[in-house]
Amino acid sequence: MIDPALIARDFPSLHGRTYLNTAAEGIPPTAVGEALHRYWEDKLQGMDGRAAHFEAERACREVTARFIGVQENEVAFCSCSAEAYNLLSTALALEPENEVVLSDLDFPSGATPWLAARVRPKVRLWKSTGGELSLETLSPLLNEKTRLVQVSLVSFYNGYRLPWAPLRDMVRQRAPQAILSVDVTQALGRCVLDCGDADIVISSTHKWSMGIHGGGIAAIPARSAARLTARAGGWYNLENAFAENRFERAEIKPGAFSFATGMPSFAPIYALNAGLRYLETIGVKRIAAHADPLTERVHHGLVELGLTPMAPFHRENASGIVAIRHPQAEQMHARLHASKIHLMYNAGRLRVAVHGYNTADDIARLLHELREALTKLS
Ligand SMILES: Cc1ncc(COP(=O)(O)O)c(C=O)c1O
Repeated sequence: MIDPALIARDFPSLHGRTYLNTAAEGIPPTAVGEALHRYWEDKLQGMDGRAAHFEAERACREVTARFIGVQENEVAFCSCSAEAYNLLSTALALEPENEVVLSDLDFPSGATPWLAARVRPKVRLWKSTGGELSLETLSPLLNEKTRLVQVSLVSFYNGYRLPWAPLRDMVRQRAPQAILSVDVTQALGRCVLDCGDADIVISSTHKWSMGIHGGGIAAIPARSAARLTARAGGWYNLENAFAENRFERAEIKPGAFSFATGMPSFAPIYALNAGLRYLETIGVKRIAAHADPLTERVHHGLVELGLTPMAPFHRENASGIVAIRHPQAEQMHARLHASKIHLMYNAGRLRVAVHGYNTADDIARLLHELREALTKLS
């Protein structure tokens, strides 16, 4: 990370390609592979391996809590963000007279549980303008009936990063009944987080945080635990799973622990623990200080090529993502991929993602090949 010798040692699979697609799939360091091997060794111990499994889960809660800015016992793991959101919907049990605010920059996992519910709350869409979400347009959507405001700290769609403190203050003031829920999937491990005072923080584990698939993080500060207890069956989430009264009632652990319903997904937990601890040795602040200027260079380089990034770049509130729309985006993506430059293409959109393992050379190659592609395709 940052240091080329470290990148060569810890990310050997990056050699010979320009990987700018962490917003889809992060490339874990070798330390994560070693942790997965430890999981394998522990698993081979059978039941005797469980002490190590549970210790890995505890250690992962500890480091995850530090990244998010909550306490260790305010974090739990499920299997993906979508699972966490669906569990959140059981905790809220919203009625038709309740209101939910969603943004049009959000990923479907966080936006759709409220649309899929059998009893649907009223959904109000916070629409972006010029790729940004303005508090002026949020304000009229908030009121006494608002029970949930669901946002992503960094949008998967265009990389827009919400200014957290003003958003939080507005929601607390204008919608006092609302749960403020924030998805940090596109920020955890890349941006210094400032949203630990949300009511719930949710993340997937296979992107910037350097983990693998099959993990989901739910962090709920103790003060919100009573309001955010998922009403799901299971055993790991229950106080009385094996007690005499277990067929009379389910005593659910409050808050974050209610989001871990069955035997934890240990392999992704070992991986996340190793990934976050690896990032911690470098420091997210240093990663952002290295990668934010590279993101800015992508932004300006695209403008120089006559392309329009889908969100403006704000130096004081940067993310790792820049996206553009182009009628020939698919062909551009194919050409770049053939030159071993990895980006995301989806629905007319090209998305560039810059992490700590990227270099100024990566960005120069990207912009050079994009220029070539534009010339050849015109
Ligand atoms: C903001 C955000 N949340 C969640 C996810 C993934 O959700 P899940 O873990 O449900 O697959 C993504 C994936 O791109 C995302 O960008």
